[in-house]
Amino acid sequence: MVFKLPELKYSYNALEPHIDALTMETHHSKHHKAYVDNLNKALEGHAKSQEMDIEEILKSLTELPEEIRTAVRNNGGGHYNHTLFWEFMSPDGGGKPEGELANKIDEDLGGFDKFKEDFKKAALDQFGSGWAWLVLNNGRIEIVSTPNQDNPISQGKIPILGIDVWEHAYYLKYKNLRGDYVDAWWNVVNWKKVEEIFNKVK
Ligand SMILES: [Fe+2]
Repeated sequence: MVFKLPELKYSYNALEPHIDALTMETHHSKHHKAYVDNLNKALEGHAKSQEMDIEEILKSLTELPEEIRTAVRNNGGGHYNHTLFWEFMSPDGGGKPEGELANKIDEDLGGFDKFKEDFKKAALDQFGSGWAWLVLNNGRIEIVSTPNQDNPISQGKIPILGIDVWEHAYYLKYKNLRGDYVDAWWNVVNWKKVEEIFNKVK
């Protein structure tokens, strides 16, 4: 398939003041678009991979021809990660999860406040570029981080929530203060969507 840049469900300035409009516009229309274009370029002439969706591709990276494996891992991961990331945020976000996800966070991660603290630590401890994630792994939820554009799906874990900690995600507004960006980001987390994802995959 030819991959396309997904449209955002909100405007570039909708997450202000937590995520500024210029960051959103650059992040979506330049960074994400480049991942999509480079993914399509890498897959040109590879008919088998072109029939797969992005999740299938990322679950079977080791089966890809070696000459395109790194390009697909980086750009396919970049496309998938950002597609999820836009959905994880909303101008109506913030607050706390409810229902089964809230119970699961209490059970597996020691409660919402402890989860937030540990998730922020994972985001800060990810050296250089990468992501921090909440994943479902064998029936349990866990916090993990991945370098570059790797996605937990390539290790058999299902992403439920994730934050982009590449500098391009926050540097224009927060400069080197990644922790301030994470603190602000909680205000735009779309828990309704995260609950929906969890309820589907649990
Ligand atoms: Fe990004």
